Amino acid sequence: MPATQPPPPPGEKKKKSPRPGPPPPPVAVATAALVARVAAARVFGLWPSSSLAGLQPVWTTEPGCTKLTLDLSNSTRELPKEVEQHAQLLDLVQAEIDALVASDAPITVAEASRAAAERAFGDPITPLYDGGKPPKNAKAEDTVRVASLAGFAVDATALPVAANAGGGSIQLIGRTSDNPKKKPETMVLIVGKKKQLSLKFATSYEAPAAPATGDVQSAASMSIKAHGALSLKPLVAFTKAPKASEAETDDEGEMVVDPWAVEGKIDYTKLVEKFGSQLLTPSLLDRLGALAAKRGQKLHRFFRRGIFFSHRDLAKILDAAEQGKGLYLYTGRGPSSAAMHLGHLVPFLMTQWLQAALGVPLVVQMTDDEKFLWKGEYNEKDGAYDLDRFRALTRENAKDIIACGFDRDKTFIFSDCDYMGHMYPNVCRIWKSITYNTARAAFGFEGSSNVGQSAFPAIQAAPSFPSSFRIPLARCGPRPDDSCCLIPCAIDQDPYFRVTRDVAHKIAPKSHPLRGKPSLVHSKFFPPLQGALGKMSASSTDSAVFLTDSDEDIRRKVMTHAFSGGRDTAKLQKELGADLDVDVAYQWLRFFLEDDDELDAIGKSYGSGTGPYWNTAAVKERLVSELQKLVRAHRSRRDVITEADVDAWMAVRELGTPYL
Ligand code: TYM
Repeated sequence: MPATQPPPPPGEKKKKSPRPGPPPPPVAVATAALVARVAAARVFGLWPSSSLAGLQPVWTTEPGCTKLTLDLSNSTRELPKEVEQHAQLLDLVQAEIDALVASDAPITVAEASRAAAERAFGDPITPLYDGGKPPKNAKAEDTVRVASLAGFAVDATALPVAANAGGGSIQLIGRTSDNPKKKPETMVLIVGKKKQLSLKFATSYEAPAAPATGDVQSAASMSIKAHGALSLKPLVAFTKAPKASEAETDDEGEMVVDPWAVEGKIDYTKLVEKFGSQLLTPSLLDRLGALAAKRGQKLHRFFRRGIFFSHRDLAKILDAAEQGKGLYLYTGRGPSSAAMHLGHLVPFLMTQWLQAALGVPLVVQMTDDEKFLWKGEYNEKDGAYDLDRFRALTRENAKDIIACGFDRDKTFIFSDCDYMGHMYPNVCRIWKSITYNTARAAFGFEGSSNVGQSAFPAIQAAPSFPSSFRIPLARCGPRPDDSCCLIPCAIDQDPYFRVTRDVAHKIAPKSHPLRGKPSLVHSKFFPPLQGALGKMSASSTDSAVFLTDSDEDIRRKVMTHAFSGGRDTAKLQKELGADLDVDVAYQWLRFFLEDDDELDAIGKSYGSGTGPYWNTAAVKERLVSELQKLVRAHRSRRDVITEADVDAWMAVRELGTPYL
C-alpha cells in the first residue's frame, strides 16, 4: 500500500486492493495470437476461439512470447494417438501460420455493443468468446471489438491487433521439454476424453494496432467459417518399419529405394508418405537459417533448393541447438571403392555445413564390415578373405571425407573393425531389441543371407546413441548420454534408422529429450549422367564423375553422356526451350552452382530457348567448368592429407565442446 494512504481505523479490517491484472499484450503478441488461433482452427476444423483460457501473459516475463490452450473436443479432424502424427499436426499449424503471414491477409476490426455483436453473429455465438462463454460480468451495453481474419472472427476486445497478418514471423517454440516430468509447452494432448492443443510461440511483429474500421455489421457480412466447412490436409500415416517389398516399391513395381538399391523413377512425395517421414517446412528452414546466421553461415543451397527435402524430428534438434543442449551429428560411408563420386559428396558437404552452422561434434562411421559382408570374397588361392581390402579403402575414403573441410577438433572418423569394442555394449542391446522377423521385414533378408548381414543393422544403429562415444562425446553437454543425434544422409539409408528409432527407448536413458530417437535430414539422389532414374553408382564409371577424375575425364563424361532435356532441333529448342526436370546438366548445376541468381538466369534462358544458355552445349560447358573447379579444389586439399593425418582424425579422443 502506498505510504501516502492513511492506515485503516482501529478495529476495521485492511481492505484488500484488487490484484492488478496483467498488462494488455503488445500488438505483436495479440496479432500473433489471432494468426495462431486461425491457423489452428484451419488445421483442426475448429471455431478459432474455442479456447479453454485466454492468452497467458507470458510476454510479461518472456518478451514477444505467449501461450494459448485450445480445446480440441470439437475438432472435425480425427485425432491420431501417435506422437509422430502430433508432430505433423504441429508442423501443419506452423505451415498455416507461415501461409497466413506470407499472404499478408487483412485483419478487419469492428466495434459495437455486446448485444449488437451477439445479434450480428447470430447463432452460434460461441465463436466470439474465449471458452465459448461471454466473459464474467459481461453486460449487453459493453463495447466489444471483433477481429476478423481469413473468414474467422474472434472477440478481440483486449487484443490490440495489427491491420494485416504479414509483417512479422511467428514461431512455435517449446515443442520438447527438458524435464521428463514436465510436458512440452507446445503439444497436442490426447488422453482419454481430454483433447487439447497448447501452443507457445515467439513473435517478431512490429506493427501499430489497427483502428476499428467498421461496425459489427460489416464484420458479420464477411463469411465466417463453420466447423465442417474446412477441408483438412491429410496426415502422413505413421508406419512402423514397413516391409521393403511392399513399402519401398511403388504400385507399378518401378521405384525401389533401400540401402542397397535405388531404381526406377523416384517419386519423392510418395516416398515420404511410404517411409512416414516429413517434408521440410519453410519454418524449420527459417529456424535453421537463423541459427546458422549466428555463426556467419547462409542457409545451404541444398536446403534452399529442396535437395534436402525430408526429415524426422528436426524441430527437436533445433530446440536443442537453440537452447545450447548436447547435440552431435552422425553420418557414414560404406567404403566399397577407392574413389568416391559426386553423389557421395552430397551428404558430406551437407554435414560439413551443419557442423559449421551449429558448431557441434560429428562422428563418421566407416562401415568396412558392411561392405565386406555384402561384397567381400574368399580367395581360394590365398586361403583368405579380403576384409583388409575394405579396411584399406576406409583410409582412402577418409581422406576424401577430411578434404570436405570438417573441423578436426570436433570430428571423429572411425572404422567399425577398429572401434567396435567401444560400441559393442550398445550393439548387444540393439541386437537384443530387434527380432529377426523385424530385420527380415525391414531389410528383406533371406535364408541365403549370411548371419553377419542380418546382424549388421544394429551396427549402423549404434552410433545414433551418444553412449557409443563415451570418450569422443565426453564434453557434449553436462549429461553426454542425453545428447541428441542428427543424421544427414540420402533417403536410401532411412530403413536403418526407422528400425533404430523403434527400439531407441530401450537403449537411451529416460531423460533423453527424444527418448533416444535419432533425428534425420534426408536428401534426394544426385542423378546419374544418363538421366534422372535411380542414383549415381560407383560401379558404372561412365554414369558418375569421381573425385579423382581429371579435367579431361569430366569434360568427356559430361559432353558425351549427360542426358539432355534439350529439343531435337535448334528450331524446336528455340520454340519450346529445354525440359529442365530431366536435363542432367541443369540438375547437376542445381546441386553444385552456389550462385542462386546465376542458376536462375541459366534456368530461364535454357528453359525458354533464348539468351546465352539457349542450348544444351552452353549449359554443359558451364557445368564442366564448375565441376572442374570443384574437383580440382577437392583434389588439392586431398593430396596434402598424409597417413599421419588420417591417424589423427581417426584417433579415439575427446572432441571439442559443442557451440564453442
Ligand atoms: P554409402 O557409402 O552407400 O553412401 C554414403 C552416403 O552417400 C549417400 N549417397 C548419395 N547421396 C546423394 N546422391 C547419391 N547418388 C548418393 N549415393 C550415396 C548415402 O545415402 C550415404 O549417406 N551404410 C552406409 C554407410 C553409413 C551411413 C551411416 C550413411 C553408416 N552409417 C549413417 C549415412 C548415415 C553406406 O553404405 O553409405
